[in-house]
Amino acid sequence: MSAKAPTARLDKLLANLGYGSRREIAGLARAGAIVLDGAALVDAGRRIAVTPDLPARMTVDGEALDPPPHLTLMLHKPLGVTCSHKEAGPLVYGLLPVRWRRRDPALSTVGRLDKETSGLLLLTDDGALLHRIIAPRANVAKRYRVSLDRPLNGNEGAILASGTLVLEDDDRPLLPVGFSVEDATHATVTLHEGRYHQVRRMFAALGNHVTALHRDRVGGLDLPGDLEAGAYRVMGEDDVAKVFAAG
Ligand code: URA
Repeated sequence: MSAKAPTARLDKLLANLGYGSRREIAGLARAGAIVLDGAALVDAGRRIAVTPDLPARMTVDGEALDPPPHLTLMLHKPLGVTCSHKEAGPLVYGLLPVRWRRRDPALSTVGRLDKETSGLLLLTDDGALLHRIIAPRANVAKRYRVSLDRPLNGNEGAILASGTLVLEDDDRPLLPVGFSVEDATHATVTLHEGRYHQVRRMFAALGNHVTALHRDRVGGLDLPGDLEAGAYRVMGEDDVAKVFAAG
């Protein structure tokens, strides 16, 4: 255990992880349902060190404790779910354990993907990290695989690289966009900013239409091939570092 680890009252820590009210946590503790390093913690008012290894050392009702803050996830966003806390219909948060919706600090998506875009989506409860990732200064690139309605005409790469394309309703041109052709109706684009519906609007401005959109990389972090659509994974420090590494 690190001497510098923050400490928290057990009832507050578990209440903020969504396990119930502080009174309910006190009941769980009295019943011997909270175990740390093999010993029941019966006093919910006791302070404990909040270390990243706590889930390996603490159980609640026989199950490993949920990851304490700060928690950062990579999720393979499927089609048809919305990046929102409150819109109607299926939400990305519905793909996470129910208890996690009661966490404080809450998990938020790092930017958004459209409802009909799939791929790598990050979520975090660490506001400072979220802002570091989306800050223009960080220049975290986002890579998308694009399927198009009509064949490419050959001038898209030059236009996107020029940094002169102005999208409808925008007043300043896009930053240069990385572009590579996969085949006549498939391309890969790499964005260095994140404007509303940017990829779809870009190809509309180029006289085409996006039929499918999938993000497979954020910074230097690839969507793992074995992470199925709808599944998520807790990110470690190495994964977070990859986000800031050049893609
Ligand atoms: N550009 C879009 O048009 N949609 C997304 O979801 C992401 C980038």
